[in-house]
Amino acid sequence: MNDNTEGKIKVEAGKRYSWCNCGKSNKYPLCDGSHRKLEGIQPVRTWFHEDLEVFFSRENGKLQLKVEKLEK
Ligand code: FES
Repeated sequence: MNDNTEGKIKVEAGKRYSWCNCGKSNKYPLCDGSHRKLEGIQPVRTWFHEDLEVFFSRENGKLQLKVEKLEK
C-alpha cells in the first residue's frame, strides 16, 4: 500500500470495524491481519451508532478519519 492514500467507505450501525493502524493491509483502510508480522501494532476497533460515511486519509503513517451522516 502507498503510505499516502485517501478514500471513503460506508459503515453500518452496530457492526464492528477494525481500522488498519499499520498501513500494510491490502483491504485498507480496514485491517486484513497483515499487522501480525509487525510487533506491537493492533488495529483500532470501532463501532458506529448509525449508518455513516467515513472519509479516511493516511499521510506519512498517520491515519485520519472524518465521519459524516449519509444523506437520506
Ligand atoms: S493490517 Fe494494519 S492493523 Fe491490521
